[in-house]
Amino acid sequence: MSDRRLTLGILVSGRGSNLAAIVEAIAGGALPATVGVVLSSKKEAEALQRTGGAPAYFVDPAGYADRAEYDLALLHLLKAHGVDLVVLAGYMRLVTSVLIEPYRHRIINIHPSLLPAFPGLRAQRQALEHGAKVTGCTVHFVDEEMDQGPIIAQAAVPILEGDTEAVLAGRILREEHRLLLLAIGYIAEKRLRIEGRVVSVGGMS
Ligand code: GRF
Repeated sequence: MSDRRLTLGILVSGRGSNLAAIVEAIAGGALPATVGVVLSSKKEAEALQRTGGAPAYFVDPAGYADRAEYDLALLHLLKAHGVDLVVLAGYMRLVTSVLIEPYRHRIINIHPSLLPAFPGLRAQRQALEHGAKVTGCTVHFVDEEMDQGPIIAQAAVPILEGDTEAVLAGRILREEHRLLLLAIGYIAEKRLRIEGRVVSVGGMS
Protein backbone atom coordinates (compact mmCIF):
# COMPACT_ATOMS: atom_id res chain seq x y z
CA MET A 1 0.00 0.00 0.00
CA SER A 2 1.53 3.30 -1.02
CA ASP A 3 -0.05 6.74 -1.19
CA ARG A 4 -2.40 5.68 -3.93
CA ARG A 5 -6.01 4.83 -3.20
CA LEU A 6 -6.68 1.57 -1.44
CA THR A 7 -7.86 -1.13 -3.85
CA LEU A 8 -10.63 -3.23 -2.35
CA GLY A 9 -11.59 -6.81 -3.14
CA ILE A 10 -15.11 -7.45 -1.90
CA LEU A 11 -16.34 -10.98 -1.20
CA VAL A 12 -20.11 -11.41 -1.24
CA SER A 13 -22.79 -14.07 -1.26
CA GLY A 14 -26.11 -12.23 -1.12
CA ARG A 15 -27.97 -8.95 -1.14
CA GLY A 16 -24.93 -6.67 -1.26
CA SER A 17 -26.18 -3.69 0.75
CA ASN A 18 -22.78 -3.31 2.41
CA LEU A 19 -21.13 -3.43 -1.02
CA ALA A 20 -23.60 -0.79 -2.25
CA ALA A 21 -22.72 1.43 0.72
CA ILE A 22 -19.02 1.17 -0.18
CA VAL A 23 -19.67 1.90 -3.86
CA GLU A 24 -21.80 4.91 -2.95
CA ALA A 25 -19.24 6.30 -0.49
CA ILE A 26 -16.47 6.01 -3.09
CA ALA A 27 -18.62 7.68 -5.76
CA GLY A 28 -19.42 10.49 -3.33
CA GLY A 29 -15.75 11.04 -2.53
CA ALA A 30 -16.20 9.93 1.09
CA LEU A 31 -13.80 6.97 0.90
CA PRO A 32 -10.28 7.12 -0.60
CA ALA A 33 -10.56 3.69 -2.22
CA THR A 34 -11.42 1.84 -5.42
CA VAL A 35 -13.35 -1.39 -5.80
CA GLY A 36 -10.85 -3.56 -7.69
CA VAL A 37 -12.98 -6.67 -7.91
CA VAL A 38 -16.13 -8.25 -6.48
CA LEU A 39 -16.16 -12.03 -6.02
CA SER A 40 -19.36 -13.93 -5.26
CA SER A 41 -19.78 -17.47 -4.00
CA LYS A 42 -23.41 -17.43 -5.21
CA LYS A 43 -24.44 -17.12 -8.84
CA GLU A 44 -27.74 -15.39 -8.07
CA ALA A 45 -26.32 -12.91 -5.53
CA GLU A 46 -28.00 -9.52 -5.90
CA ALA A 47 -24.61 -8.08 -4.93
CA LEU A 48 -23.31 -8.89 -8.43
CA GLN A 49 -25.64 -6.15 -9.74
CA ARG A 50 -24.42 -3.59 -7.20
CA THR A 51 -20.72 -3.33 -8.04
CA GLY A 52 -20.84 0.19 -9.47
CA GLY A 53 -19.14 -1.07 -12.64
CA ALA A 54 -16.26 -2.88 -10.93
CA PRO A 55 -15.30 -6.26 -12.39
CA ALA A 56 -17.31 -9.02 -10.78
CA TYR A 57 -17.07 -12.79 -10.91
CA PHE A 58 -19.14 -15.67 -9.65
CA VAL A 59 -16.65 -18.30 -8.50
CA ASP A 60 -18.54 -21.58 -8.20
CA PRO A 61 -17.57 -23.54 -5.07
CA ALA A 62 -18.74 -26.70 -6.84
CA GLY A 63 -15.79 -26.40 -9.21
CA TYR A 64 -13.18 -26.93 -6.48
CA ALA A 65 -12.15 -29.96 -4.44
CA ASP A 66 -12.04 -28.19 -1.07
CA ARG A 67 -12.01 -24.82 0.68
CA ALA A 68 -8.26 -24.38 0.26
CA GLU A 69 -8.44 -24.88 -3.50
CA TYR A 70 -11.38 -22.49 -3.74
CA ASP A 71 -9.53 -19.85 -1.73
CA LEU A 72 -6.50 -20.24 -3.99
CA ALA A 73 -8.69 -19.36 -6.97
CA LEU A 74 -9.96 -16.30 -5.09
CA LEU A 75 -6.40 -15.34 -4.14
CA HIS A 76 -5.32 -15.39 -7.80
CA LEU A 77 -8.21 -13.12 -8.76
CA LEU A 78 -7.56 -10.73 -5.88
CA LYS A 79 -3.88 -10.49 -6.79
CA ALA A 80 -4.66 -10.10 -10.50
CA HIS A 81 -6.81 -7.07 -9.63
CA GLY A 82 -4.20 -5.52 -7.35
CA VAL A 83 -6.28 -5.85 -4.20
CA ASP A 84 -4.79 -4.31 -1.03
CA LEU A 85 -7.69 -4.95 1.33
CA VAL A 86 -10.18 -7.82 1.26
CA VAL A 87 -13.64 -7.05 2.65
CA LEU A 88 -16.02 -9.86 3.54
CA ALA A 89 -19.40 -8.18 3.10
CA GLY A 90 -22.10 -10.77 3.64
CA TYR A 91 -19.78 -13.55 2.50
CA MET A 92 -21.22 -16.85 3.66
CA ARG A 93 -18.18 -19.12 3.50
CA LEU A 94 -15.40 -19.84 5.95
CA VAL A 95 -12.05 -18.62 4.69
CA THR A 96 -8.87 -20.65 5.06
CA SER A 97 -5.26 -19.70 5.74
CA VAL A 98 -4.67 -19.84 1.96
CA LEU A 99 -6.40 -16.46 1.83
CA ILE A 100 -5.77 -15.26 5.38
CA GLU A 101 -1.99 -15.70 5.40
CA PRO A 102 -1.17 -13.52 2.36
CA TYR A 103 -3.73 -10.93 3.52
CA ARG A 104 -2.90 -11.01 7.26
CA HIS A 105 -4.34 -7.81 8.80
CA ARG A 106 -5.59 -6.86 5.35
CA ILE A 107 -8.80 -8.88 5.42
CA ILE A 108 -11.84 -7.69 7.36
CA ASN A 109 -15.38 -8.90 8.07
CA ILE A 110 -18.60 -7.24 9.15
CA HIS A 111 -20.67 -9.24 11.62
CA PRO A 112 -24.14 -8.32 12.93
CA SER A 113 -23.52 -8.64 16.68
CA LEU A 114 -21.22 -7.27 19.35
CA LEU A 115 -18.57 -9.96 19.18
CA PRO A 116 -17.59 -12.10 20.97
CA ALA A 117 -21.33 -12.45 21.65
CA PHE A 118 -23.36 -14.33 19.06
CA PRO A 119 -20.80 -15.44 16.47
CA GLY A 120 -21.85 -17.55 13.49
CA LEU A 121 -25.09 -17.61 11.58
CA ARG A 122 -28.25 -15.60 12.31
CA ALA A 123 -26.62 -13.48 14.97
CA GLN A 124 -29.67 -11.20 15.18
CA ARG A 125 -31.94 -14.15 15.99
CA GLN A 126 -29.42 -15.46 18.52
CA ALA A 127 -29.49 -12.08 20.31
CA LEU A 128 -33.30 -11.99 20.34
CA GLU A 129 -33.59 -15.55 21.62
CA HIS A 130 -31.01 -14.89 24.29
CA GLY A 131 -33.09 -11.98 25.58
CA ALA A 132 -30.27 -9.47 25.13
CA LYS A 133 -31.28 -5.83 25.43
CA VAL A 134 -28.42 -4.47 23.37
CA THR A 135 -26.68 -5.95 20.36
CA GLY A 136 -24.96 -4.31 17.40
CA CYS A 137 -22.28 -4.94 14.83
CA THR A 138 -18.55 -5.50 14.68
CA VAL A 139 -15.88 -4.99 12.04
CA HIS A 140 -12.87 -7.19 12.72
CA PHE A 141 -9.77 -8.54 11.08
CA VAL A 142 -10.24 -12.10 9.87
CA ASP A 143 -8.02 -14.76 11.37
CA GLU A 144 -8.20 -18.56 11.40
CA GLU A 145 -10.98 -18.63 14.05
CA MET A 146 -14.46 -17.75 12.79
CA ASP A 147 -15.66 -14.30 13.99
CA GLN A 148 -12.76 -14.09 16.47
CA GLY A 149 -10.16 -11.80 14.90
CA PRO A 150 -8.98 -8.47 16.37
CA ILE A 151 -11.84 -5.97 16.64
CA ILE A 152 -11.51 -2.72 14.69
CA ALA A 153 -14.83 -1.04 15.47
CA GLN A 154 -18.18 -1.79 17.07
CA ALA A 155 -21.55 -0.06 17.28
CA ALA A 156 -24.29 -0.83 19.79
CA VAL A 157 -27.93 -1.15 18.72
CA PRO A 158 -30.85 -1.50 21.16
CA ILE A 159 -33.21 -4.45 21.06
CA LEU A 160 -36.74 -3.12 21.50
CA GLU A 161 -39.78 -4.98 22.79
CA GLY A 162 -41.69 -6.59 19.97
CA ASP A 163 -38.69 -6.66 17.62
CA THR A 164 -38.79 -9.36 14.98
CA GLU A 165 -35.58 -10.74 13.53
CA ALA A 166 -36.17 -8.73 10.35
CA VAL A 167 -36.83 -5.46 12.16
CA LEU A 168 -33.75 -5.90 14.33
CA ALA A 169 -31.61 -6.89 11.35
CA GLY A 170 -32.70 -3.72 9.55
CA ARG A 171 -31.80 -1.53 12.53
CA ILE A 172 -28.38 -3.19 12.79
CA LEU A 173 -27.79 -2.98 9.04
CA ARG A 174 -27.92 0.82 9.05
CA GLU A 175 -25.11 0.80 11.61
CA GLU A 176 -23.20 -1.86 9.65
CA HIS A 177 -22.98 0.40 6.63
CA ARG A 178 -21.66 3.30 8.69
CA LEU A 179 -19.21 1.13 10.64
CA LEU A 180 -17.78 -0.66 7.62
CA LEU A 181 -17.02 2.64 5.89
CA LEU A 182 -15.43 3.94 9.08
CA ALA A 183 -13.16 0.88 9.35
CA ILE A 184 -12.13 0.96 5.69
CA GLY A 185 -11.41 4.66 6.10
CA TYR A 186 -9.11 3.95 9.06
CA ILE A 187 -7.22 1.39 7.01
CA ALA A 188 -7.00 3.65 3.95
CA GLU A 189 -5.57 6.38 6.16
CA LYS A 190 -3.17 3.88 7.81
CA ARG A 191 -4.43 4.81 11.26
CA LEU A 192 -4.63 1.36 12.83
CA ARG A 193 -2.05 -0.09 15.21
CA ILE A 194 -2.35 -3.75 16.14
CA GLU A 195 -0.81 -5.24 19.27
CA GLY A 196 -1.82 -8.83 19.86
CA ARG A 197 -5.53 -8.69 19.43
CA VAL A 198 -5.90 -5.05 20.48
CA VAL A 199 -6.41 -2.58 17.66
CA SER A 200 -6.07 1.13 18.34
CA VAL A 201 -6.96 4.04 16.13
CA GLY A 202 -4.37 6.77 15.96
CA GLY A 203 -4.02 9.94 13.95
CA MET A 204 -3.44 9.89 10.20
CA SER A 205 0.08 8.96 9.15
C1 GRF B 1 -25.00 -8.42 7.01
O1 GRF B 1 -25.89 -8.43 8.10
C2 GRF B 1 -23.62 -8.83 7.46
O2 GRF B 1 -23.30 -8.38 8.72
C3 GRF B 1 -23.73 -10.32 7.47
O3 GRF B 1 -24.51 -10.63 6.33
C4 GRF B 1 -25.33 -9.52 6.01
C5 GRF B 1 -25.01 -9.12 4.60
O4 GRF B 1 -25.82 -8.10 4.12
N1 GRF B 1 -22.41 -10.91 7.50
P1 GRF B 1 -25.54 -7.48 2.68
O5 GRF B 1 -25.36 -8.64 1.70
O6 GRF B 1 -24.31 -6.62 2.77
O7 GRF B 1 -26.78 -6.68 2.35
